[in-house]
Amino acid sequence: MKELNHIAIILDGNGRWAKKRGLPRKMGHVQGARTVEKVCRLCHKKGIKYLTIYAFSTENWKRPDDEVKAIMSLFDSYLDSCIRTSKKDNMRVRLLGDREGLEMLLPKIEKLESVSADNTGLQLQICINYGGRDEIRRAVKKLSEKVADGSLLPEEITEDMISHALDSGDIPDPDLLIRTSGEQRLSNFLLWQLAYSEFYFTSVVWPDFDEEQLDLAIDTYYHRDRRFGNVKEET
Ligand code: IPE
Ligand code: IPE
Ligand code: MG
Repeated sequence: MKELNHIAIILDGNGRWAKKRGLPRKMGHVQGARTVEKVCRLCHKKGIKYLTIYAFSTENWKRPDDEVKAIMSLFDSYLDSCIRTSKKDNMRVRLLGDREGLEMLLPKIEKLESVSADNTGLQLQICINYGGRDEIRRAVKKLSEKVADGSLLPEEITEDMISHALDSGDIPDPDLLIRTSGEQRLSNFLLWQLAYSEFYFTSVVWPDFDEEQLDLAIDTYYHRDRRFGNVKEET
C-alpha cells in the first residue's frame, strides 16, 4: 500500500460557518481552532507522521483589523495551550512563515518549538504569515547570500538545496493536500512542496470537518494512482 506520511490542509470556511449561524466571523475562527486540535489528535491516532496546517497567509493581513486581532489572539492562546500539552501529546510543533512581522507571537513560538523539539509523535507545522512565493523569495535570498560571499557557485545549486533553504527544510513533501469549503485553489500555499501531492477538495467548511471527512480524504488518496511522471506498472 502506498505511504501516507504527510497531510497538508488549507483550512477554509470559518467565516462562512459563522455567517450561516448569524455569528461574528471571529466565532468561526474559535470553532476552527477546536477543529485543528481535533484533527491533530485524529492524525496522531491514524499514525500520520506530519501534518501541515495553513492558518494565516501573507495576504490575510488585508482583512479588517478586528478580525486580524481576533485571529492573532487565538494563536496566542493556542500557543499557550500547546506549550502546556505538547509533551503529554508527544507532538513536535514548528512554524512555517516569515517570522518578521510576527514579533508579538515570536517568544511563544520559539518556546513551543524548543520545548517540543524532541517529541517523536505527530510533527505539526503551523503556517502563519506564510506565503509560498514569500518562502521561495526568502530561500532564494539565503542561497544568493552564499553565492555573493563565494561559498556557493551558481552551477552547484540543486533542487535539494532549494528544498532545504525553504522553511520546511528537511520535512518531506506532503502526500495529500486537503482544502475545505469548496474552493479549489492553492492561495499561495506550499507552491514548491506540493509539486506531486494528491489534491482533495471538499465542500465541508473547516469547523464541520470531522473524522468521517478525514477518512474520506484518506480513502480517496489510497485510490489515487501516483505516477511521478513514470508509467503505470503493469500488474
Ligand atoms: C479560513 O477561514 C481561516 C483563515 C484564512 C484565517 P476563512 O476566514 O477564510 O473563512 P471564509 O473563507 O471567509 O468562509
Ligand atoms: C487561504 O484561505 C489562507 C488560509 C487558509 C490561511 P483564504 O480564505 O485566505 O483564501 P482565498 O482568499 O479564498 O483565496
Ligand atoms: Mg477563506
